[in-house]
Amino acid sequence: MTIGIGLLGLGTVGAGVAGIINNPDGRHPLVGQLALKRVAVRDPQRPRPVDLPAEILTTSPEAVVDDPAVDIVVEVMGGLEPARSLILRAIAAGKPVVTANKAVIARYGEEIAAAAAEQGVYVLIEAAVGGGIPIIEPLKQSLGGNRIQRVSGIINGTTNYILSRMADEGAAYDAVLADAQQLGYAEADPAADVEGGDAADKIAILAGLAYGGSIERGAIPTEGINRLQSRDVNYAAQLGYVVKLVASAQFLGTDADGSVQLDVRVSPTLLPKEHPLAGVHGVNNAILVEGDPVGRVMFYGPGAGAGPTASAVVADILNIAGIREASGAQGGLDPLLAANRWRRCRLVEPGATRHRNYIRLHTTDQAGVIGKIGGCFGDEGVSIRSIVQFESSTAGSDAEIVVITHDVPEANFRRALAAIEALADVRTVAACLRTL
Ligand code: NAP
Ligand code: HSE
Repeated sequence: MTIGIGLLGLGTVGAGVAGIINNPDGRHPLVGQLALKRVAVRDPQRPRPVDLPAEILTTSPEAVVDDPAVDIVVEVMGGLEPARSLILRAIAAGKPVVTANKAVIARYGEEIAAAAAEQGVYVLIEAAVGGGIPIIEPLKQSLGGNRIQRVSGIINGTTNYILSRMADEGAAYDAVLADAQQLGYAEADPAADVEGGDAADKIAILAGLAYGGSIERGAIPTEGINRLQSRDVNYAAQLGYVVKLVASAQFLGTDADGSVQLDVRVSPTLLPKEHPLAGVHGVNNAILVEGDPVGRVMFYGPGAGAGPTASAVVADILNIAGIREASGAQGGLDPLLAANRWRRCRLVEPGATRHRNYIRLHTTDQAGVIGKIGGCFGDEGVSIRSIVQFESSTAGSDAEIVVITHDVPEANFRRALAAIEALADVRTVAACLRTL
């Protein structure tokens, strides 16, 4: 039995998927039953890394979804629209969907889940988070019996690639970003990567699965690496830390009405060199799941690029194909999306959270400055873990003072910082980063 595949997009990921389908030798026998029937692109003349018959290419994505020979719709075109409408169109036609589109799922996951539930079709999203790393299915199923305390990780390959090459080779930010684009790691608009939005989409999806409810995507505090300064990476290294873009979702408690309180955020973060995420380099991603009773489980592997992402997309296609083969049906409701709506999740106000912090201050170089800074922290009950003075090379400031705090309430930290900023000896608060 042949299973007709309709591809929406033949870019980095789409070409990777077509490459697997067209080369089934040595793979699962079901791969040999998949047949590309229709493929939507913007520019049919563009050279592609895969050979496909010209007649299956179209500039009409609707024609792909509506083609009666297409049994499974694979959305790898990206962007919010028309991707969202095309996914809904496929569902309405009773066709299962596989998508790598975290931007759509993070914003419209609930709408899509409801439509899928009504039609009884699968929508599978393994490629949306972590590239080639299996993390969606483990969170949906394998770890289902746990109380999840925290999901944290490095879930953007582009930024990890940039940070790694900047740290290892002293490479320039713009040049490394251009390489990441060339290698197919970056989003069509790389601002989504470097400003943290892509990681925020992904942690919204992971937290939704881990805590069983939908996450308000727009409420996630998000900071990328685009304002990170190399001197902070250097100072962090001297103090025994590496800086990574970390996305995390932490369970803080339960409201009287049963809503789950969560601290969900994306930020450049100092990790002690011995932390499990500190050794994740290049385009690799890693997701650390901390649960009761399982303990700590880490998922690691290539987080972006054609091959790894296509691996996850084809796994989802095979899941659906296997179910069709076993049941003779189009599928059934995806247990993930059905089960993913059993409680309300509430993001707490950032001021109500607790963190360790790194700050860098430009100050005058005079007796008593460190004492005054320490006093401001002490007045707010903010305990200091280390305080170091570096000689400043920045014009107009005489000293740079780096402070790392213990785990402290964010509200107290912010008040202390305001008092420090008001000190006559402090010229600027030059950097403020989270620390694990
Ligand atoms: P890409 O290289 O930009 O490819 C997008 C493809 O979609 C292109 O073939 C493009 O056609 C086609 N397309 C876009 N809009 C279209 C429209 N309106 N009508 C017809 N065709 C259209 O993107 P990508 O890197 O493969 O990413 C695709 C999706 O996978 C995104 O949601 C992305 O977030 C996700 N993803 C990517 C990666 C990765 O490593 N790249 C990893 C995980 C998830 P043309 O080729 O003619 O321009
Ligand atoms: N742009 C994304 C990244 C692709 O760099 O992680 C994988 O989702």
